[in-house]
Amino acid sequence: MTVDLSTSYLGIRLKNPFAAAACSPLTGDLDNLKRLEEAGASLAVLPSLFEEQIEHEELELARLYDYQAESFAESLSHFPEYQNFRTGPSEYLDHLAAAKQAVDIPIIGSLNGSSNGGWVRYAKAIEEAGADALELNIYFIPTEPDLTAADVEQQYVDLVAAVKDSVSVPIAIKIGQNFTSLPHFAQRLVTAGADGLVLFNRYLEADIDLESLEFKPDLVLSNRHEARIPIRWLAVLKDQVQASLAATSGIHRMEGAVKMLLAGADVLMLASILLMKGSEHLSTIIDDVVHWMEENEYESIDQLKGSMSRKNSPNPGTLERANYMKALTSYTLDNQMPH
Ligand SMILES: Cc1cc2nc3c(=O)[nH]c(=O)nc-3n(C[C@H](O)[C@H](O)[C@H](O)COP(=O)(O)O)c2cc1C
Repeated sequence: MTVDLSTSYLGIRLKNPFAAAACSPLTGDLDNLKRLEEAGASLAVLPSLFEEQIEHEELELARLYDYQAESFAESLSHFPEYQNFRTGPSEYLDHLAAAKQAVDIPIIGSLNGSSNGGWVRYAKAIEEAGADALELNIYFIPTEPDLTAADVEQQYVDLVAAVKDSVSVPIAIKIGQNFTSLPHFAQRLVTAGADGLVLFNRYLEADIDLESLEFKPDLVLSNRHEARIPIRWLAVLKDQVQASLAATSGIHRMEGAVKMLLAGADVLMLASILLMKGSEHLSTIIDDVVHWMEENEYESIDQLKGSMSRKNSPNPGTLERANYMKALTSYTLDNQMPH
C-alpha cells in the first residue's frame, strides 16, 4: 500500500507534513537547508528576524544620520533619507532570497517581537524577498501588575491585524501556551487575520548563575514529553478555529508525530531532535510514520488528521479535568521511574 502523505498548510499543498522549524543552525544555513530538503522536509521556516535586530540597526542608522547631519550638512544629498534607506537587516532578506534559490520547498519567513512598532513593516520586505508565507512569533512576557490579560491579548490582535494589512501572503501566528482561555484567544487571532496558528513557542527561561548571581540565558532543547501540551490544544482547537494548525515542541519520534496529526496538526515543525541527531534524521522519522500508517491501515495523512480531535475522541473528558484527578489518584510508588 502506498501512503499519501500530502497535506495542506496555509493554503499551500505540501508533499508531507514534516517541516523544519525556525532555528538558525537548521534553516539559517543554506547547506543545511538542502540537507533538510533531501531528508524529506516539505517546508522550512527561516529563523526569525527579531524586533531587537531591526531596532538596533535603525538606532545605528539614526546615529549615523545625526552625525552626517551635524558634520557634513552639504553631503546630506548623498545620504539616503532615513525612511527610504534599505534598513532591513539586509542579511536576513538576502538569506531568504538565497534560500528560495537553493531549494524547491516553500520557505516561510519569520518575524519575532512583541510591540506594535515600526518593525512590523518588515513583513512586507519579507514578502518581497520571496517568502511563500510569513510566521509571526509574538513573544511577550508581561511583568506589570497593571497590565491585564485583555490588554495583552489586544496587543497580539493589533499586531496580527497590522501585519495582515501589510502583506498578501498567508500569515501564521506562533504563540505560547499561557493564555487563560486559549480557544477564545485563538478565535480572536483568526478573526484578526491569522491564516494559521503555530502551537507552541517554547519560552526560554533564564537561569540564575550562582557564581555571579545574575540571570543568564540558557537554551535547553525540548524533550519528547513536551509534545503533550500541543497535542491537547490541537485536539481542542481543531474543530473550532478556521485556520491551519502547525505543531511544534517535543516532536522527537514517530509516536509524537503521529499523535500530533491525530490531534489535528496540518504540519509538524521540528527543531531540537534535528539539532541532536542531525538533519538527516528527519528521513528516519518520516519512514517510521509511513510504517506506522501502513501497519494501522491509514491510506493518507488527511484520513489521520484530526481523527482524535476533541469532537472525534471517544472520551474527550480526559482532555479536561477528569484526566487530572485520575492521573493523580492512580499514581502509585510502583510508577516511579529512575530520573
Ligand atoms: C537553537 C534554536 C533556535 C531557534 N530559533 C527560533 C527563531 O528564530 N524563531 C522562532 O520562532 N523559533 C525559534 N526556535 C524555536 C523552534 O522553531 C521550535 O518551535 C521549538 O524549538 C520547538 O520545537 P522542538 O521541540 O522540535 O525544538 C528555535 C529553537 C532552537 C532550539
